[in-house]
Amino acid sequence: MRLILLGAPGAGKGTVAKLLTKLDGSVQISTGDILRGAVQAGTDLGKQAEAFMKAGDLVPDALIMGIMEQRLQEPDCANGFLLDGFPRTIPQAEALKSLLARLGIELDAAVSIDVPREVILDRLTTRRTCSNSACQAIYNVKSNPPKVEGVCDKCGSPVIQRDDETEEAIGKRLDTYNEKTAPLVGYYDDEGLLMSVATISSDDVVNAVKQKVGL
Ligand code: AP5
Repeated sequence: MRLILLGAPGAGKGTVAKLLTKLDGSVQISTGDILRGAVQAGTDLGKQAEAFMKAGDLVPDALIMGIMEQRLQEPDCANGFLLDGFPRTIPQAEALKSLLARLGIELDAAVSIDVPREVILDRLTTRRTCSNSACQAIYNVKSNPPKVEGVCDKCGSPVIQRDDETEEAIGKRLDTYNEKTAPLVGYYDDEGLLMSVATISSDDVVNAVKQKVGL
């Protein structure tokens, strides 16, 4: 399947993407994970992105498009992809449309995951993430804790709270989402690709997607 996952920070895009990858071999492409990996590795990209991310601001469109243009042409995308956290602005959506047209790729849908704000705030303050940039498994101290506290079930690395998980950065990320990313819901509706799912259950999102793509 070839999907865009839309939704506010904490809506569960990453969690849903990880469940969907198990269905048909589609790969999860999370711009947030790519950027956090670059910050951890101290690359040029990471140095350019770090301050934006810590403050809860978006990284400039040109940097993101550079990453995605390369990433979407890697061989593992041939089986399908789940875009998690991209596009995030109208210019990114326009650039993606041109890129996909150039590569001859059609999207199945843009799935908008709609979760109430109070649920999101609770989830973001209780989320924990694997510190290993090659793993980045997602946990939640309430709904999905690791088996051994502070240790990743999958790779054994420390499980930590992200740098942008402060109250101030969370507030900024939600404001940025409402201003810059929420308009994409209307954009993809106009493109005839929008599929909205209002639920707090990741399984409900997965089932709705399965129906949509005929799995
Ligand atoms: P990014 O990593 O994309 O963060 P985000 O969009 O803020 O999304 P999150 O990862 O916070 O949330 P999610 O929806 O994936 O939720 P999750 O599944 O983890 O981006 C980080 C930063 O990178 C940005 O702020 C920006 O600076 C930069 N960036 C990235 N992409 C960019 C772009 N395209 N352009 C410009 N800048 C970009 O779930 C959250 C928690 O809830 C977890 O603890 C999880 O276990 C729990 N949970 C999830 N679902 C459920 C459920 N159904 N029931 C109970 N708990 C649940």
